[in-house]
Amino acid sequence: MTLAASLSPFPRHSLLFGATPLHALPRFENAIREKIGHCPQLYIKRDDMTGLAGGGNKTRKLEFLIGDALARGADTIVTAGALQSNHARQTAAAAAHAGLKCTLLLFDTVPHKEPAYRQSGNLLLDHLLGADVRVAPEGIDAAEFFGLTLTELSEAGHTPYVVPVGGSNPIGSLGYVAAFEEIAQQKTAMGLTFDRIVHGSSSFGTQAGLTVGGHLLSSDTKMTGINVYKPHTPKVVAELDTHIAELATHLNIPVPSHHTAELLGGFLGDGYGVPTEEMRAAVELLAQTEGILLDPVYTGKAMAGLLGLIANGQIDADETVLFLHTGGYPGLFAYVDALSA
Ligand SMILES: Cc1ncc(COP(=O)(O)O)c(C=O)c1O
Repeated sequence: MTLAASLSPFPRHSLLFGATPLHALPRFENAIREKIGHCPQLYIKRDDMTGLAGGGNKTRKLEFLIGDALARGADTIVTAGALQSNHARQTAAAAAHAGLKCTLLLFDTVPHKEPAYRQSGNLLLDHLLGADVRVAPEGIDAAEFFGLTLTELSEAGHTPYVVPVGGSNPIGSLGYVAAFEEIAQQKTAMGLTFDRIVHGSSSFGTQAGLTVGGHLLSSDTKMTGINVYKPHTPKVVAELDTHIAELATHLNIPVPSHHTAELLGGFLGDGYGVPTEEMRAAVELLAQTEGILLDPVYTGKAMAGLLGLIANGQIDADETVLFLHTGGYPGLFAYVDALSA
C-alpha cells in the first residue's frame, strides 16, 4: 500500500522542493560515545531543510492547510502563536507563496526577557514576509482575539481562513502522514530499519501524522515525542491520543486500537521557551560535531531528551534511531544572551 492514495483526495499546495535529506551523524555519535560510554546508531531527518523561509516541520502541514484554504476561496490566513513562533513564520511564508494575505496573532507569554526576543529571530522574519503582525493586548484570551480579528477582517471584505496553533488539526497532520512514507522510502533505499523516531512534540500534529502514517504502513517503529511545551501530565499525554484518533477519522480509517507513539516528559525545564543547560549543551554539541543548527525551544530540548534517554539506558545502544529535525534555527537569534553567556 502507498500513502499517496490515502492522501490524494485532500487539496494540497506544493511547498517542499522534494524529499528532505536523511543522513548519519558519525562525529556526533563518536562525541556521545566519548561522553556517555555508549551510543545507538543515529540518523537525522532534515526537515529544517524544507526550503521555505528557514524551513521546519510546519512546511509539511501548510501544504495541506493552504491547499484547503485555497479550495475554500479564502484570501487571508489567520493563525496564532508565541512571539517567537516558528509556525507563525512558516505560515507567513506559505501565505506569501500562495498569494494570500496573512494575519498573525502573537502572544507575549514566554517569560524570557532579553531584548532580542522581542525584536529578532522569527518575529523579524514575520515582518519581512509581509505578515500583518498583531501582538495580543495583555489579558485578552486567544478565542476573544481570534473572534475580534475575524470579525474585523470579514467586515473589511476579506475571506479569512483559520489555521490552528501549530497547524495541528487533522488537515495539517496529513503532512506528517506523507512524511512517514518519505522516511520509509529513504530507509529502504539506504538498507536501514529504524527502531524509533525521536522529535520534539508540542501541539501533536507531527507525532499524530507520523504515528498514523506508520500504522497505515504496518510499521512498528516507535514514535518517541519529547514534550517541550506543557508540564507533563496524563491529560497532556491523552491529548496526543485525541489527535491520533481525529486524524484517523479524517482519513476515514478505523481509529487504531493501539499505536506506537509515546510522549516523554522531563526535558522541558522551567517551561516552554525557557532555556535549559541541557538544551544549550545539545545545541553546541551537534553544531560543533556536524555543523547542524538546532533551535532553543523545540529541537534543542528534544535533542537534550535524546541524549538523556541514551544516558539513562531508556534507549539501548543496539537501537537505530532517527532524530527528526523539525527546524526552528531562526529562534537562536532571539536567545542571544542565553546562548552566548
Ligand atoms: C521547530 C519546531 N519543532 C517541533 C514543533 C512541534 O511540532 P508539533 O506542534 O507538531 O508537535 C514545533 C511547533 O511549533 C516547532 O516549531
